[in-house]
Amino acid sequence: MNLGLQGKPVLVLAASDGLGKAAAMEFAREGARVMLFARSEDRLKQAREEISAATGERPEYVVGDITVAADTRNVVAAAAQRFGSVFALVNNSGGPPAGGFDAFDDDAWQKAFELTLLGFIRSIRAVLPLMRAAGAGRIVNFTSSSTRQAIDNLILSNTFRMGVVGLTKTLARELARENILVNVVGPGKMDTARLRNIEAMRAEKLGLALGDLQKKSAAEIPLGRYGRPEELARLAVFLGSAANTYITGQTVLADGGLVQAY
Ligand SMILES: NC(=O)c1ccc[n+]([C@@H]2O[C@H](COP(=O)([O-])OP(=O)(O)OC[C@H]3O[C@@H](n4cnc5c(N)ncnc54)[C@H](OP(=O)(O)O)[C@@H]3O)[C@@H](O)[C@H]2O)c1
Repeated sequence: MNLGLQGKPVLVLAASDGLGKAAAMEFAREGARVMLFARSEDRLKQAREEISAATGERPEYVVGDITVAADTRNVVAAAAQRFGSVFALVNNSGGPPAGGFDAFDDDAWQKAFELTLLGFIRSIRAVLPLMRAAGAGRIVNFTSSSTRQAIDNLILSNTFRMGVVGLTKTLARELARENILVNVVGPGKMDTARLRNIEAMRAEKLGLALGDLQKKSAAEIPLGRYGRPEELARLAVFLGSAANTYITGQTVLADGGLVQAY
């Protein structure tokens, strides 16, 4: 299948590591012109080198924080200046801290909102004029399998990911006639630095060795293993491609069959 991404401008937020970097890599493999965004310039440079070595495409990058309104406007302006437009926007961010209801005050809830939902809203607001002028666009919002089944001890994430689903479903309807398609992808347990950190905390709490906890978690996944970041990224690339012409407003999980809900 030709995904129609050759030369297409793609902006990937939170793209210097983990799932965002994997998405940027897979878009670059399809010949897209990619712009990366994250807070650490060192990690962005490293991601750029890895992506160029693997794909022959050299992504651009802008340093910034998705929770800072001016930074999201700035990266979209940089993409517009460098590429002329943005065909696909991949919204991703770091995850909020783990914990249950009693662990968080208003400030923590506000920060989690800014990280996982408001940042996405702002980047969408900034790219829409470009997509409208081009007569096409694709938006892929990264969330979690918790959009179908809440995950214990991740109350901040569980709450705001559902906000992203509501935003996506509503925007998909508002923007469909303008050929702007908006979808959510939800990772299950993908092998990234963030997942390893969360599981190290869980292992310590349960008094287990990390390796034993990981074996137990993998055994609960019907496919019998954690996902590789590129296994989510390939889903995001299809939804964010010109080959996706009729899927909008959907939440699709890449979770190895973990979640039993429909
Ligand atoms: N891995 C999984 O299995 C899994 C499952 C469900 C949901 N998720 C969610 O998917 C998202 C990505 O997860 P991951 O595992 O890929 O995490 P990761 O390995 O920790 O990577 C996070 C990326 O986001 C960037 N980032 C973090 N905070 C940022 C901010 N405020 N502004 C801009 N960039 C920021 C980081 O770079 P800088 O630190 O340099 O900014 C890094 O590039 C998270 O929200 C996570 O909760 C992951």
